[in-house]
Amino acid sequence: MLHDLCDIAQRLVAPGKGILAADESGGTIKKRFDSIKVTSTEENRRDYREMLFRTADAMRDQISGVILYDETIRQKAADGTPLVDIIARAGSIPGIKVDAGAKSLAGAPGETVTEGLDGLRERLALYAEKGARFAKWRAVIDIGRGGDRAMPSDYAVKVNMHALARYAALCHEKGLVPIVEPEVLMDGDHDIGRCEEVTEFVLKTVFQELYYARIKLEGMVLKPNMVVPGKKSAKQASDAEIAEKTLRVLKACVPVAVPGIAFLSGGQSDVEATARLNVMNTIGGVPWRLSFSYGRALQAAPQKAWSGRPENKAAAQAAFAHRAEMNGLATLGKWSPELEKKAA
Ligand code: 13P
Repeated sequence: MLHDLCDIAQRLVAPGKGILAADESGGTIKKRFDSIKVTSTEENRRDYREMLFRTADAMRDQISGVILYDETIRQKAADGTPLVDIIARAGSIPGIKVDAGAKSLAGAPGETVTEGLDGLRERLALYAEKGARFAKWRAVIDIGRGGDRAMPSDYAVKVNMHALARYAALCHEKGLVPIVEPEVLMDGDHDIGRCEEVTEFVLKTVFQELYYARIKLEGMVLKPNMVVPGKKSAKQASDAEIAEKTLRVLKACVPVAVPGIAFLSGGQSDVEATARLNVMNTIGGVPWRLSFSYGRALQAAPQKAWSGRPENKAAAQAAFAHRAEMNGLATLGKWSPELEKKAA
């Protein structure tokens, strides 16, 4: 079993490849569709995602795995083929988001805890039967505004990292690779130093919890945020500083046994997310693969190109293929702004 887990984990972060996060919840996909003036019906969601999964070159060459939402793992394409089969036949690995979202944490005003552990063992078994080989759980850590150092509280970090570890243990029990995602949000006005400090505390805590939960780190993938200033910070940072601080924190916190780190994009623009991953891989000298598990940074361009119109399908697939290719190059430190411009 551990052998299989290690194999899947390594395939997810294989050189030149990364993960497509297409697991937006009902509320989130509605928000994305609203912005391109598309009604979020079950059929539109299916058509949109089917279009991505049928982008053959990208799915074969750059997209190692796809994170699905509960609805999508049960859906069939217009021609009746299960979407999971389309992904697997394209040469990519189907995965599934299994958390139930961040809910208010009692006793900690303004903070959240990610729920979804109840009944998770049974749901994981069902998803494995439907073809999922890996899973994702996202913990959300917000940084206080206006220099408020009380947030995140130790309590919120502790309960969220504990839940991540319990989720990871259940995944291993069912033979699924856990993607462990402790996301420190880039909302807010904090500077990069504060993000660095909070990210370090969060990662130290999650690896301690994973150890207590007896997780074999060889069979997981870490999905962290990059160390960036808050979106409303007066002091933005260069790609080089972001890469350097992110690498410092990861080296201080992530054991060598972890096969790979697949960053979330978290609200960075698509090209920023690519450029920063590329800088980190140019610096190199780390024991893990550095890859991507992007949602917005892979999908913003194809969503816009598609805009709900069937006649835009080819343009949307070209936009997706281009972002996949650029990020694939970034995992190798071979991306450049010139290649970026040669665009779709
Ligand atoms: P973003 O890359 O849009 O942050 O999404 C990744 C993800 O899966 C968040 O849970």
